Amino acid sequence: MSTSDLGQLESQLLKDIAAATDLAALDGVRVGALGKSGSVSGLMAQIGKQPPESRKAFGAAINAVKSAVQAALDERKASLEAAAVDARLASERADVTLPVRLGPLGEGRIHPVSQVFDEVAEIFADMGFSVAEGPDIETDDLNFTRLNIPPEHPARQEHDTFYLNHSGEGARMLLRTHTSPVQIRTMMSQKPPIRIIAPGRVYRCDSDQTHTPMFHQIEGLVIDETTHMGHLKWVLEEFAKAFFEVDDVKMRFRASHFPFTEPSMEVDIDAAAIGKPGRWLEILGSGMVHPNVIRNCGLDPERYQGFAFGMGLDRIAMLKYGIPDLRDMFAADLRWMRHYGFNALDLPTISGGAAG
Ligand code: DAH
Repeated sequence: MSTSDLGQLESQLLKDIAAATDLAALDGVRVGALGKSGSVSGLMAQIGKQPPESRKAFGAAINAVKSAVQAALDERKASLEAAAVDARLASERADVTLPVRLGPLGEGRIHPVSQVFDEVAEIFADMGFSVAEGPDIETDDLNFTRLNIPPEHPARQEHDTFYLNHSGEGARMLLRTHTSPVQIRTMMSQKPPIRIIAPGRVYRCDSDQTHTPMFHQIEGLVIDETTHMGHLKWVLEEFAKAFFEVDDVKMRFRASHFPFTEPSMEVDIDAAAIGKPGRWLEILGSGMVHPNVIRNCGLDPERYQGFAFGMGLDRIAMLKYGIPDLRDMFAADLRWMRHYGFNALDLPTISGGAAG
């Protein structure tokens, strides 16, 4: 093959390379030239068959063609790849300044009870409490007797209990009237130190603007060897400040009576916390756990002590978010949910404020 033929082959291949509009076409040109039976590879195979005097020059000429073709292939490949990336960037361009479209996440709502439970759990988690749970259907023993409310105790009357059909055998079952039985379950299954909150549904046969047959409570329990009433007051004050998102909250601890605590206190907050100064609002019941209760759970009251509290979850949700009627909370009315419900991404955090 003459030098001019080689020149022609080279310029033809360079033209083909320049004309390849995508990576597949370019690879076709590469295989046709440098592949096993490609035109340039064919010439390489002939170097050895040349007479010795022209072999060197022939080899050099073909190698020059090969290098030129290879360089052109590399360069074209790089530019086709860059063009492909540019095309993709152009077609997938996103305007990050557009408002977020939430889709179904934007339509759905978190019920105020769920939201407020998450807020409360977050606040107590920060103070080292974990979450415990118990069943809605409870035994008479755990709901009452072990909480120092024996049969015939007058406190049973106040609870408007829903009893389940009783065959006369086995434990008498009921719908729990408060979350306090979770205290018992926890003390019977865990060794102190204990620090829990227990949210859940509770049931009482009662219905008006501020009572529904099912409502929600959160129980709190701390048991160890050194806890005293100062701790109880501090924990509840810290809770009230964080929950109502105020720097300071005035609280009133009123002497009261619950069979499972001694002494017992009802706790009111100054309604200034919700922007209505001049009124006291009751938010929970609390006290030092009665030694009988500790003993009833198999713990030694000489060694262990602590405090407990119970508050109405729906009630504090209504106070914080200005919800007027408890019954609407459970009416499953979508218009109400759109008004009082929370966005799914509005996660309560300590750092962002309880309501995010
Ligand atoms: N169980 C009480 C109720 O339902 C509330 C309560 C009061 C719980 C005092 C407590 C407590 O743990 O210490 O009315």
